[in-house]
Amino acid sequence: MISAQRSVKITGTGSYAPRKSLSNDDLAKFVDTSDEWIFARTGIKERRIADEEETASAMGTSAARVALAEADLAPESVDVIVVATMTPDMLFPSTACLIQNDLGIAGAVCLDVEAACSGFLYAMEVATGLLQTGRYRNALVVGTEKLSSILDWEDRSTCVLFGDGAGAAVLSSDSSDGATVIDFKLGADGSKSDVLSMPGGGSSIPATQDSLAARQHFLKMRGREVFKLAVKVMGQVALDILEQNDIRPDQLSCVVPHQANMRIIDSISSRLGIPIERFFLNLDKYGNTSAASIPIALDEAARSGRLKSGDTVLLVAFGAGLTWGASLVKW
Ligand code: COA
Repeated sequence: MISAQRSVKITGTGSYAPRKSLSNDDLAKFVDTSDEWIFARTGIKERRIADEEETASAMGTSAARVALAEADLAPESVDVIVVATMTPDMLFPSTACLIQNDLGIAGAVCLDVEAACSGFLYAMEVATGLLQTGRYRNALVVGTEKLSSILDWEDRSTCVLFGDGAGAAVLSSDSSDGATVIDFKLGADGSKSDVLSMPGGGSSIPATQDSLAARQHFLKMRGREVFKLAVKVMGQVALDILEQNDIRPDQLSCVVPHQANMRIIDSISSRLGIPIERFFLNLDKYGNTSAASIPIALDEAARSGRLKSGDTVLLVAFGAGLTWGASLVKW
């Protein structure tokens, strides 16, 4: 549990969705799929697709500006920027440095965290830990993804699932206002790294004519295996964090899950015994936006009035790695 001496608050949230929307029917015009198949298997109706200017850093900066305005914090007061992404603008420098530059500030600690769809919760825990040292006061945590840039648009088993977007939160250790971060529980199992990955583009398979011809610079997934693992580990990490904090599932006012697939979320709802109405859902509009999924959903939940002062909120995610994570927040 987070020490009460230096409590960390979420003082603002923000999000950004690219303008262009791609519906299931639009997809069916160029891959062999249908709205019926996609909606029945996933709950997704449409997703946003970034244009050339909407890079991961540009979308992250837009979400960050909204969160900073909500927190009433000047960009110069940000001491730490942690960005969760698996689609950075480039391998280096970090997307956090690019966002820092876009915000027109200098000096803050900047780093990227790569934990795929669990990335935002990983980034939140890293930022919280840094704030708790007492050396920093305000952190900007961003989840941003341009997944359209790594999707194989000829592979119907993956390209229908994902979308682009960004979300952000301002975390502060010197504010009396805001939602209190209660706890985190993160984990990973690298032995399952091959179920969901992008093999090319790193140092083991750099870009060559052969790697391009073998389509190794696209996201690859063994969907059924990922599905089973997601149900298992997301349910478990949710139960673990509740037990760790002596909170019963029925005491949760809202669950903000990683928005990957409605059937995964339904099975977690059954496992926790929490009615689906208490889950905040927006995957019909955005699909799976990986590290951006939780902060976009959190921002929309907050703005729509779903989160009320005093509510206990569970954030829970799962992603490539495998990675998983949960966080409890007192709104
Ligand atoms: N449109 C139409 N048919 C499709 C299709 C699509 N977009 N994608 C796959 N199919 C077909 C397959 O080719 C297969 O056909 P076949 O029976 O003739 O071989 C059939 O549908 C069933 O495929 P399968 O992969 O077994 O489907 P599924 O029920 O497992 O559903 C997923 C596929 C991807 C929706 C599901 O496995 C899933 O959601 N997995 C988790 C993915 C995820 O959330 N990843 C991110 C984690 S962070």
